[in-house]
Amino acid sequence: MVYLQKYLEDCGCDPDLVQLIRLISRQMEPIRKAFLDNQFYEHTLNASGEVQAALDKWADAHLIKVIGESGYVREIASEEQEDIIRFENSRREYAMVMDPLDGSSLISTNLAVGTIVGIYESGGVMQKGSNLKAACYTLFGPLTVLVVSVGKGVQSFAWDPKSEHYYLLKKSFDIPEGKIYGSGGVYKDYIPAHEKVLSYFDEKGFKVRYSGSFVADCHQLLVYGGIYTYPALKKSPKGKLRLLFEANPLGYIITQAGGAITDGYQSPLDIQPEKVHQRTPIYIGSAGIIKKIEEIYREQ
Ligand code: AHG
Ligand code: MN
Ligand code: MN
Ligand code: MN
Repeated sequence: MVYLQKYLEDCGCDPDLVQLIRLISRQMEPIRKAFLDNQFYEHTLNASGEVQAALDKWADAHLIKVIGESGYVREIASEEQEDIIRFENSRREYAMVMDPLDGSSLISTNLAVGTIVGIYESGGVMQKGSNLKAACYTLFGPLTVLVVSVGKGVQSFAWDPKSEHYYLLKKSFDIPEGKIYGSGGVYKDYIPAHEKVLSYFDEKGFKVRYSGSFVADCHQLLVYGGIYTYPALKKSPKGKLRLLFEANPLGYIITQAGGAITDGYQSPLDIQPEKVHQRTPIYIGSAGIIKKIEEIYREQ
């Protein structure tokens, strides 16, 4: 069995980066256990004006406390925090962007949800996704799986509650050109370019796979290929997903697995963020299909 820490050390990662990723990975069990405490199911509204489950807030506060106390991180930007959080006394310059709980509208359905994290080596959180040093997400499914990239492809690790370690499950992913897609939003709100993309999927016999959790709907593409999209909508031209916490970390990982991400015209990884909670339309998945989607948008 190859454990997470050993694998990252063998990749030649900075020891503090190894410890930071390991620390993040070890918060997944406390978060998973919190699901048992059903006081977390009531909802309020967050910085993006969206429904915020109490568990969103708990996971956010827990990660900020643990990561903040570690001294590895100078800044954290979180989906659940209005502003960037700075740690004046940190001894390293890593900067972390996170979606503490993605798919939280599904918690009461027991469908797969997860935590998304992006890590910059220095320079704060307001930088392009293409500058990420590492990114990871967990998926709370039948297994608690950690998917991580430190720029050397993509690996997955499974949490073993007995040994209390993450062991290597898959040491590389190469996204196939698949035929599944999941599209957020509702049909009446779709712009003409997206309608053209959906007719293309139809013509090619694509099947719909959409649960409402970005991290789960994207994870399956690593195995099956295909596309996840939350497109620009008539009423929200920037779509729903957030550039910093969702598009960039998953875009980095999917790209490392030979896939691609686009907003219809360019990769969100090349966008210089201007606002912490800015949104971006996204299509993410098999590289060949992303190329076709950009052709369709260019023809508009
Ligand atoms: P979050 O739970 O972090 O707010 O993210 C929810 C996102 C994403 O996970 C999911 O794909 C999308 O919202 C679902 O939106 P709809 O419910 O509008 O389909
Ligand atoms: Mn949310
Ligand atoms: Mn999310
Ligand atoms: Mn979230």
